[in-house]
Parts: sequence; C-alpha cells; structure tokens
Amino acid sequence: MVERSLAPLPNDWGRTAFSEFLQREGLPVVTGLAVPDLKEVQTAPWPRLDALGAYVQLLGAEDTNIAYVLDLPPERATAVERHLYEEVFFVVEGRGTCEVWNGAGGRATFEWQRGSVFAIPLNTFHRLHNGSGQQRARLLGVSTAPLMINLLRNLDFVFGCPFDFTDRFGGEEDYFRSEGTVYQRPDTTQKIWQTNFVSDVYNLHLYDWVERGAGGKHMKFELANNTLIAHVSEFPVGTYKKAHRHGPGAHVVILSGQGYSLLWTDQHTDFEEVPWKPGSLFVPPGMWWHQHFNTGPTPARYLAIRWGSTRWKLTRYLDYQGVDKDAKAGGNQIEYADQDPRVHRMFVERCRANGVEVRMDSFLVRA
Ligand SMILES: [Fe+2]
Repeated sequence: MVERSLAPLPNDWGRTAFSEFLQREGLPVVTGLAVPDLKEVQTAPWPRLDALGAYVQLLGAEDTNIAYVLDLPPERATAVERHLYEEVFFVVEGRGTCEVWNGAGGRATFEWQRGSVFAIPLNTFHRLHNGSGQQRARLLGVSTAPLMINLLRNLDFVFGCPFDFTDRFGGEEDYFRSEGTVYQRPDTTQKIWQTNFVSDVYNLHLYDWVERGAGGKHMKFELANNTLIAHVSEFPVGTYKKAHRHGPGAHVVILSGQGYSLLWTDQHTDFEEVPWKPGSLFVPPGMWWHQHFNTGPTPARYLAIRWGSTRWKLTRYLDYQGVDKDAKAGGNQIEYADQDPRVHRMFVERCRANGVEVRMDSFLVRA
C-alpha cells in the first residue's frame, strides 16, 4: 500500500453529543457524588421548557442517565415537549397536573403532589402544570437522555420524531389511574408493582424484603413499560443494610430518616462517606460497594430511580441492580458476618452520639 499523507486529528474529536446538548441547554450543572438537599439546588431559566431548572450530573450516573431539578412558578406550565428518551419524575414539592398525549389521538391527564412518582411514556407529548397559585412546584427528573442522545446524535430527531409508541402508551384515558398489578418473584421476597403512577412514596405500603437484611421493606415499580424504573426501600431505627454493589445510575433520594452511606471499591478501601437527610440525593458509581446506615430516631426510607427493570433487560452492566446474593457465592452483597469490622464500630459510635439504640443484635455482625 502506498504511504498516505497524514491528517492531524481534528480538535473537536472525543466529545459526546450529550455534553454539547448540556452546554446548549445553558443550565447550571451540579456535579460530584451527592446533592445534600434537593430543595436547595439553585435553578436558572430554562428557555426550552419555559420553566426553571438545573442539571444534576452525578459521578455515579456515568452518563448512562441524568437527573435534573425542574421548577414551575405558581400557576405556570412547561412548554410542550416530546422526546425519544425515558423520563421518570419525583415530586419534591408542590402539586399540579400533567397532560400526556400522542399523535394518534390518545390523551390522559392526572394530578400529582409532593411524593408522587410517574414516568412520561416514551415520545409522548407532555406538559406539567403547577396547580398552586402561591407555591412553586419542584420536580426531580431522571432520564435516559445521555444514552439516547449519544447514540442518535441528532437533537431534531430526538425531540421531533413523529412516531407514536403505542406499545408504551396506547391512549388509555385511565393510564395513570389504573391500579396495576403487584407481582411476586418466585425466587425471592421481592415485590414488583407494574403501575404508571405512584401517588405518594412517603406513605406507600411496603413489603418485607428479607434478603437485604435488618428488617428491610421495599416495593419495586415498573413504570410506563420503561427500562428506567424505580423502587422504594425502608429500614428500621438503629439498623443498617448489607453492603452491596451494582451498575451505575441508581439515583437515591432520601425520603425520611437521617444517617449516612459508605462507598468504597476493592482497590480503594478507605470509605467515602455521604451524610444524608430527607431531600439528599446520591448515586453510587458502578460496582462500588455501598452500605446505608440509619442513625436517626425514625425509619429511613428512600426512593431509587434506576436501571434494572425486572421486565425489560438492557445490558448486564446496567441491569445489575437488584442484587441480594452473597459475594462469597459469586454475588454482590457482603453478609454482615463478612464485613470490615470498622463498619459496625463506626455505626455504634454514630448511634451513641445521637442517643439511638443499636438494634443489630439478631444479626451475626462482624465487629
Ligand atoms: Fe444500591
């Protein structure tokens, strides 16, 4: 072969389409491991949505998914949008309505309030409306935009595709009001609720989840036939959960309780500590060990918006979320008896400082 003249590598290679999109959105971008309080995030005008917002691009999302805070001033509504990425909302504060429709004539409207969780079906037109004349409404959104925009690399297509995914939303008027179905996995105590609307995750009835330790309760949601789904978990006063690890992108929002989480890897065994309280958000990076500790006077409840749908598998790395098998048996959970002794000591000290009684006696904890 003839030797060819060589061109210098263009300066603009090595970008992602999503990072360009973020720049174009022009919003503040919060980065790091955690957000101490979602209610305190500073937002700025968001022209595309005729609202206010801030992106929350945490390390642990690994650009597989992205979070954002969306503010609606009193009585205001967002601009109408549709997009080829999945989107799950959690209402941080306020109340309002949401309209969803498609090009085939289907339309559904529902009311949301603080604590509601719902998903916008893929590529449906939608608009959120603040139902209060006095108070701002603040929502946390988590979407699959980074993956989709990086793969397709054309914003006109991502935000302007005319196709109606009737397998996601068939135009049912009661789409967001139907009771759905609660499924029980045959192999574990996990419960999975197929629904399109959860009215209040603060007061939702939860079921025991034995495998994850220390009296934990939970409920998983399959929303809008999505791959991006959610679950709520709760663990009692004076307890902590078993350490575990999984793929990236699990956005954990603390709903109640006070405590902390430890994160580490097999290579970096110094614990990274994330203190939390209601309103805190953090995302454990992919395959980092993490463990949640309740050191407050009330049960600790959290919402996770994440990959790992039970219904639709995506990729092994992202689907690796619902792990409850002993690491010694090839799983990704550290049993209490095998954990680093520093873990329990630290917990006992923290509880003592808060005047909280440790209730881990019925477990064989390595201390
Ligand atoms: Fe986790």
